[in-house]
Amino acid sequence: MEHQVKRIGVLTSGGDAPGMNAAIRAVVRSAVGQGIECIGIRRGWNGLISNDFIRMDTSSVSHIIDKGGTLLYTARSEEFRTVAGQDKALAACRLLGLDAIVAIGGDGTFRGALELSRRAKEKDYQLQVAGLPATIDNDIGCSHYTIGFDTACNTCIECIDKLRDTMQSHERCSVVEVMGRHAGYLALSVGISIGATAVLIPERELDFERDVIEKIRRAHLAGTTHYMIVVAEGAGDTLEISRKIFDSIGLDPRVTVLGHIQRGGAPTRQDRETASCMGYTAVKAIVEHRGNCVVVTQEGNITTLEMEEALAMKKEFDMSRYQILEALTNNCGSL
Ligand code: F6P
Repeated sequence: MEHQVKRIGVLTSGGDAPGMNAAIRAVVRSAVGQGIECIGIRRGWNGLISNDFIRMDTSSVSHIIDKGGTLLYTARSEEFRTVAGQDKALAACRLLGLDAIVAIGGDGTFRGALELSRRAKEKDYQLQVAGLPATIDNDIGCSHYTIGFDTACNTCIECIDKLRDTMQSHERCSVVEVMGRHAGYLALSVGISIGATAVLIPERELDFERDVIEKIRRAHLAGTTHYMIVVAEGAGDTLEISRKIFDSIGLDPRVTVLGHIQRGGAPTRQDRETASCMGYTAVKAIVEHRGNCVVVTQEGNITTLEMEEALAMKKEFDMSRYQILEALTNNCGSL
């Protein structure tokens, strides 16, 4: 028989993303509104293993909706990948009396969540584990959108706009590396939005002459005197790309790696709102005993998918976006 949900744990795991705090707030407030107690697990899955927790109420999540980072801290846990680690975590869940956990993070976080719920089932422990997608990479197969992506895009745009001022003055070429792990969503979205000369992404095999030199050449012939090459971190070595540009056409590019600055900052309206709605949806699913799920966006709607099914899904890279980028750069050059 399904028992009443009395206590929910919430944690953030993996790389942080702007909007995680808004998601924590939504989980806590939605739970408390239903008469459910909320426990914050600190430092991701590691915190569950080491029983590192804080009790949370509506006031402990006041004034955090606008803050980047995560007040629960985050970590990547090697120990949680092991059966022994998962068993320790399960024992901690029992000690805390948790009926459910909301895990906010990326793909690795969800794989952990699935393993934990499998172990719980094997041990006849009714524990619902829900995933909330938050990563600046936007690389989760089951969800069109992940919390933090919009803010990270805007941070990159702001930085590159500044870079462009000096590149323009000096009539230089800039090679800018953005994050994204093995995916090019961030690079492509930013590249379209800043009017990049070229964008290199892991989803497209690199032909250096076609994808870099020819793009710069066309921009040059169209009268442009500065060039912005955006490189996804998974698409190649920016120093090597810069050196090849120099060797081929004599431009002496400046390399900028935007780095972890992309993960910080106040979340945008989109990330605050999505995180709030997703947090609410996760708690609703748990209360209705549909909590072994991932909260996702599909065709603009927020919904839930059963966790195992969700994790088997692959995201098709939208190459039509790349074509749009090409149409706008090949003919006109950068900006
Ligand atoms: O997954 C988010 C992300 O920021 C990736 O874009 C990047 O490759 C990675 O995390 C960096 O991880 P770390 O914070 O461990 O350097």
